[in-house]
Amino acid sequence: MRKYLLMVIGLLLTAVLFAACGGDDPTPTSAPATVAPPTLIPTTPVTSTVSTSTTAASTTPTLSAQPTSQGDATQGQILFMASCSACHGPNAEGVKGLGKDMTTSQFIASKSDPELLDFIKQGRPVTDPLNTTGVPMPAKGGNPSLTDEQLLDIIAYIRTVHK
Ligand code: HEC
Repeated sequence: MRKYLLMVIGLLLTAVLFAACGGDDPTPTSAPATVAPPTLIPTTPVTSTVSTSTTAASTTPTLSAQPTSQGDATQGQILFMASCSACHGPNAEGVKGLGKDMTTSQFIASKSDPELLDFIKQGRPVTDPLNTTGVPMPAKGGNPSLTDEQLLDIIAYIRTVHK
C-alpha cells in the first residue's frame, strides 16, 4: 500500500511539475509579447521627435541664411529716417546730389547682410573708385553711435524697399 501511495504522490508531483512547466510556458511567451510593443511604441515617438527637431533645426539656419531675416525692419525704418533719410530720401529712393537711390541699387542687391554692414560702417569716400556721385557716403551715415545691431535693423529695412 505504501508503495502505491508513493507512486500516487510521485505521479501527483510529476503532474504538478508538468502543470508548473506548462503554466510557465505561456508566461514567458506572453511576457516578451507584452514587452515588445512598449519597446516599439516609445521608439516611434522618439524617432519622430528627433526628426521633428532636426527639421526645425535645419529650417532655422535656412531662414537665417536668407538676406532678409536678421534685423528688425520696423525698427530699422525708424533708424533709417533718423540717420539715412536726409541723403537717401524718406523712401530710400535717393536725393539727387546727396545720396544714392537704394531701391534699384545693384550694389545693395549683390551684397550679403554682413557685407553691407561692413560697407555702411566704412562709408565710401570720393577717392573710392566705386564712388559714382563725387559725394562721400559718411561712415555709418555720419552717426557713429549706431551699433551693429541697429545697422542690421536698417539693412533689414533696406531689403524691404529694394525692388
Ligand atoms: C551725408 C549724406 C549721407 C547719409 C546721411 C547717408 N548716406 Fe549712404 N550714401 C551717400 C552717398 C553720397 C552715397 C553714394 C556714394 C557714391 O557715389 O558711390 C551713398 C551710398 C550708400 C550706399 C551704397 C549704394 C550704392 O548703390 O552704391 C549704401 C548701402 C548706403 N549709402 C547706406 C546708407 C545708410 C544705411 C545710411 C544711414 C545709416 C546712409 N547711407 C546715410 C550719402 C549718405
